[in-house]
Amino acid sequence: MLIYLNGKYLDYSQALLPVDERGLQFADGVYEVALVWGGQFVDLERHLERLERSAQAIELDLPFTRSEIRDVAEELLRREAVKQAALYLQVTRGVAPRDHRFPAVVQPTVIAYLKDAHMDREALQHGVKAITVPDLRWLRCDIKSVSLLPNVLARQQAANRGVREAIQVRSGVGVTEGSATNIWMVHQGSIVTAPASNWILSGIVRSVVLDLAKSEKLPVAERFASAEELLQMDEVFMTSTTSFVMPIIEIDGRKVGDGEPGPVTMRLQELYLQRLDQIAHATLG
Ligand SMILES: Cc1ncc(COP(=O)(O)O)c(C=O)c1O
Repeated sequence: MLIYLNGKYLDYSQALLPVDERGLQFADGVYEVALVWGGQFVDLERHLERLERSAQAIELDLPFTRSEIRDVAEELLRREAVKQAALYLQVTRGVAPRDHRFPAVVQPTVIAYLKDAHMDREALQHGVKAITVPDLRWLRCDIKSVSLLPNVLARQQAANRGVREAIQVRSGVGVTEGSATNIWMVHQGSIVTAPASNWILSGIVRSVVLDLAKSEKLPVAERFASAEELLQMDEVFMTSTTSFVMPIIEIDGRKVGDGEPGPVTMRLQELYLQRLDQIAHATLG
């Protein structure tokens, strides 16, 4: 496995960082995950744009231009020659003696690599189960920060219960999002998803699915549903770069609708997967 680290392409075993790297000490950094499909990056520009917004929000000056980091991604893809993967890209504030304050002079640490991403076709067809958990995160969930402890704890709770995802419910707000996915609900043909706000990470797949719903003339309300509403929906699904458009068929041990993936979910999934294939083919020639 090849790791890009601060300008060098290294073997995994050679990619080492000092203990006082601020990503390790303070989770002081931001990241992105972008899909490679059919040997092509999917929506890389949108991911790089979001990375810039996340970095700006934590007052971190990215040590590269957009075209420079795109070149790194392309070079990794050229060297690894994979068709299907996820690009992991992380920028942390850098190495400095431990002190909460920003170091006066510091070089950010840039890490990029391609990791396996497989499509769980069985789950996409038949759906997965979820639980609800309280949303314990901070007030800036719109920043794609490497500080993921509440998300880790939520996903582990789901794993402990033998289900795929934990749907987070924010006290006084409503259903926000999954531990690493955006959550969508369908009631009598109308789609509900949490609005882009400080309470969620506005997913790249979310923005694509919103456009697809619009193109299908499906009504979408961007609002917070309550936990009670969630359990009464006809359909629920989740989206992310690596889970695509995934039906959720059971929540907290109760069937969603009739316990099968619903028609709106499956139509949006079909359109989303078609779009992936178009991207893979359009840029091949
Ligand atoms: C908390 C959270 N919400 C939503 C998403 C979905 O974002 P995207 O569609 O850009 O993958 C992710 C992706 O990892 C996430 O971590």
